[in-house]
Amino acid sequence: MTYDAIIIGAGGAGLFCAMVAAKRGRRVLVLDHAKKPGEKIRISGGGRCNFTNLHTSSANFLSDNPRFCISALKRFTQHDFIALVKRHNIAWHEKTLGQLFCDGSSQQIIDMLLTECAKGGVRVELQTEVRHVAKAAEGFSVETSKGRFEAPSLVVATGGKSIPKMGATGFAYEVARQFGLNIVPPRPALVPFTFAPELLAMTSGLAGVAVDAVVSHGKTRFAEALLFTHRGISGPAILQISSYWRDGDEIEIDMVPGRDMLAELKLLRKETPKQEIVTALARLLPRRLAENIAARAGVEGRLADLADKRLAAVAALVNHWRVKPQGTEGFRTAEVTAGGVDTRCLSSQTMEARDVPGLYFIGEAVDVTGHLGGFNFQWAWSSGFAAGSAI
Ligand code: FDA
Repeated sequence: MTYDAIIIGAGGAGLFCAMVAAKRGRRVLVLDHAKKPGEKIRISGGGRCNFTNLHTSSANFLSDNPRFCISALKRFTQHDFIALVKRHNIAWHEKTLGQLFCDGSSQQIIDMLLTECAKGGVRVELQTEVRHVAKAAEGFSVETSKGRFEAPSLVVATGGKSIPKMGATGFAYEVARQFGLNIVPPRPALVPFTFAPELLAMTSGLAGVAVDAVVSHGKTRFAEALLFTHRGISGPAILQISSYWRDGDEIEIDMVPGRDMLAELKLLRKETPKQEIVTALARLLPRRLAENIAARAGVEGRLADLADKRLAAVAALVNHWRVKPQGTEGFRTAEVTAGGVDTRCLSSQTMEARDVPGLYFIGEAVDVTGHLGGFNFQWAWSSGFAAGSAI
């Protein structure tokens, strides 16, 4: 059997690319070292796969080259993916902020991709170790535990380094380096923050407490939930900001967005002077958090007995809590990897390496990283479509 294209990686991007190419009559081989295809799809969105976002635009992506993703996102949009999902009779709903989830299970998305691949005669070889990739007389040869395969086009869709336990490797970066492509240093993104022991000692009693917050890093801000954990902080707002954060940076947290805590405390002091500060805070915050904030500000007792300065100290911790995380939980739990194959080395139309005809990189392996909310899968589909239409 000879192939027009070999795709390494049977995740969302690889399977989608295979399906698109096969529809065009291409003979496609997909290789993966895992036991099952699409494992990250399976566990995504709490088992319901947040497969796209209604509001997808290039503004939802980070990259050294923020305009790179525009072309692929335009050629295969969120609406195109929704139409495909509808054709497969997969029921879905919008959870929040344009995030679309399966009503049933994420396995439906995997089955949809595999059905489309089967229709096009795609061969998917799992549990296959890829040992070596090389330029061949016509195209590329791939040395594997199941023998050697050759094809004019090679697509690398092996994702990033997130969750090594699930088989994530730096394979895409190795291939990129081998062929002289630049790598934007990969780093964990959409990942919880950890606190240094001193800060952790102050907040560890809050594990499990959640609030709606606005979290900022410079001019970037996200309004979503924040969750205290045994190691630091997590929740959607924190995962989002983590993609922008670098070692040593500070973030700012507002735990009562849209409200001026100092003004409200002053008003309450006038109206209900006998009220305890903790009770006043607990009107807007979970009680445990209210107690913690008052203790950290070193403030207790009745509002009437607290001077403006003391109320201001409490309010600052509520509206403008400045936190310097010690680090992140790393690739062990990061939902995605930021950085990756430098987009300056790739065509934004086709994902083909500019200086290596026939070699393509798609999905999370590329230096395009989406916000939380279905954007990373949309990038897998859109970049897979771009390459699948070219190979
Ligand atoms: P992906 O990592 O999916 O696939 C790569 C494939 O390559 C894997 O099958 C792997 O086994 C294979 N491979 C790797 N190295 C290899 C090697 N050396 N040899 C052979 N095969 C190799 N996004 C989103 O939009 N909505 C969501 O709901 C979620 N939820 C979510 C939850 C969790 C827990 C995680 C970890 C991630 C998400 N994501 C997400 C992110 C999303 O899963 C991710 O961005 C895409 O799966 C990336 O798709 P790719 O196909 O690029 O890589």
